[in-house]
Amino acid sequence: MEAVILAGGSGTRLKPFTKIINKHLLPVGSNPMVYWPIKKLVQAGINEILIVTNQEDIESFRKLLGSGEELGVQLSYTIQEQKGRGIADALNCAKDFVGEKFVVLLGDNLFDDDLSPFIKDFKKGNDKAKVLLKEVSDPKRYGIAIIDENNHTIKSIIEKPINPDSRYCVTGIYFYDRHVFQLIDSLHPSNRGEFEITDLNNLYIQRNELNYNILKGWWLDAGTHDALFQANKHFFEGE
Ligand code: DAU
Repeated sequence: MEAVILAGGSGTRLKPFTKIINKHLLPVGSNPMVYWPIKKLVQAGINEILIVTNQEDIESFRKLLGSGEELGVQLSYTIQEQKGRGIADALNCAKDFVGEKFVVLLGDNLFDDDLSPFIKDFKKGNDKAKVLLKEVSDPKRYGIAIIDENNHTIKSIIEKPINPDSRYCVTGIYFYDRHVFQLIDSLHPSNRGEFEITDLNNLYIQRNELNYNILKGWWLDAGTHDALFQANKHFFEGE
C-alpha cells in the first residue's frame, strides 16, 4: 500500500517563519517536521511515499530527503499547482501514484499511535474510507465529527464549528480507495475558496461509507506557534 503526505499550503498561522520556509521543514525535536510522518509510515511497513508540496518548496524537499534512502523509504514528489487550493485538491495530485487503497497523512499532524493495525484492517477489509479521530479540548480549531457510538458511525463532520457539538477531531490521517478521485471531481470550492477534505468525507458519510477509529496516544496538529512549541517539547522530552 502507498502513502501520500500532504505538505503544501501556506502555513499562515506560522508566519513569519513560513514566509521563507515551508511549514513541514520547520524543526520539531531534532528533525524537520516531515521526518515524523515518514517515520510513522516506516513503522507501519509502508515505504512507497508521495510528497505533495508547492512549486516553490519542492527543491527544498528534494534536497532534504532525496530518494528517501536515508529514512528507508522510496520517495516521489509532485506539485500542487495552485498553492493553498485545499486539502482535497492536494490529494487529487496523487491520482497517478496510488494503487487500489492508500493512506493519506497531513504533514503537520504528529502522533504516537502505531498505524500498523489500522493499515492492516483497511487493507484486508471492505471499508471504502476511514478517518482516525482524537478527543481534543479545543474543537473549534478542527474538523469535528458527530458520532453515533452505538452504531459506530459518523453522522456528520463540521469544519471548525463555532459551537462544537462534539470533541472528536478528525485528525489528518485518512484511508481511501481509488474511488476517492471520482468524489473529488464532484466537489466545489468552499466559501474560503478551498476544496475541503471535510466536504469529501461528508460525501462518504452520505453514502454510509466512512468508518472511523479513535487514536489512543498523543496527537497534535503542529500548525500554530503554540502547537509547534508543544510538539518540540514532546519530542525532546521523548528523546
Ligand atoms: O489537523 C487536522 C485538521 O486539518 C482537520 O481536523 C481539518 O478537518 C482539516 O481541514 C485540517 O485543518 P487545518 O486548518 O489544520 O488545515 P491546514 O490548512 O493547516 O492544512 C493541513 C495540512 O494540509 C498541512 O500540513 C498542509 C496540507 N495542505 C493544506 C492545504 C490547504 C496542502 O498540502 N495543500 C493545501 O492546499
